Amino acid sequence: MTIDSIVERILSLRKRREAVILAHNYQPPEIQDIADMRGDSLALSREAAEAQAKVIVFCGVRFMAETAAILCPGSTVLLPDPEAGCPMADMMAPGDVERMRGEHPGAAVVTYVNSTVEVKAVSDACCTSGNGLKVVESFPPGQEIIFGPDQYLGHFLSTQTSRTFHLWRGYCPSHMKILVEDIERAREEHPDAKIMVHPECTPDVIRLADVALGTGGMIRYAAESGAKEFVVGTEVGMVYRLEKDIPGKKFYPATSRALCPNMKKITLEKVLWSLEEMEPRVTVPPDVAARAKQAVDRMLASV
Ligand code: 13P
Ligand code: SF4
Repeated sequence: MTIDSIVERILSLRKRREAVILAHNYQPPEIQDIADMRGDSLALSREAAEAQAKVIVFCGVRFMAETAAILCPGSTVLLPDPEAGCPMADMMAPGDVERMRGEHPGAAVVTYVNSTVEVKAVSDACCTSGNGLKVVESFPPGQEIIFGPDQYLGHFLSTQTSRTFHLWRGYCPSHMKILVEDIERAREEHPDAKIMVHPECTPDVIRLADVALGTGGMIRYAAESGAKEFVVGTEVGMVYRLEKDIPGKKFYPATSRALCPNMKKITLEKVLWSLEEMEPRVTVPPDVAARAKQAVDRMLASV
């Protein structure tokens, strides 16, 4: 089967199934090209909540599809590769949250949306890299914050608020591959470029960059900036997204090592199979979904 005929069949099945295809900014180019909507975690959650489509094909990783399932209980949510997980999300379990609550009584639990649905269910609020500070500041100034799974996003947020943070020690294996040496080399090779990094990067990398932004923030920053060149310190798929959205400017990956193998598990063939077979479905038990939804709703309320 040729690529064109796979795409043709996906598009006609999408119509027949009354499906929407959502793709995260790190998805491979051919997946981004067939999606109804591309975006960061926050935008895709909002899109899912608004769409309430009969079928949502989520081209991303499991926690994103779970969030869609929580927000759209009436939709069938398909994750074209059931193995597309997020190692960072799996670094924190509900028991870890409960233990930290015991160690820091009275602290609020804010979890990065890159977490399992079971962890969301025992959290007070979720946030994304795009609205973390707003969510944290929605709690009273004196309230301490337990933050996980990502210690680096948590550390980055803690530098911008007076609130005391207690960090879980998770991290993103893909963003760990962006090193200080990469940023130093990028400065030398592209002296006129602005350097954008994701707040999942380590503090020493963030310190050397011009800005730390989530993927949606990077698109807005690059579009509005007077600069013509940018170094992109996040998962490499983001470069395609920026080039497509902002054709007049140049984008260089900080390193091609920063690849998320889970994001790349989604292929056109798997999207087609999932629409044909209406599998693999992502479902969340209703009691867990109800508890997790309170934390997710608080995330969506912070714009
Ligand atoms: P964004 O919310 O910035 O798109 O990031 C999601 C993610 O998984 C980063 O690794
Ligand atoms: Fe998870 Fe990192 Fe992949 Fe994002 S890039 S989905 S945090 S492993």
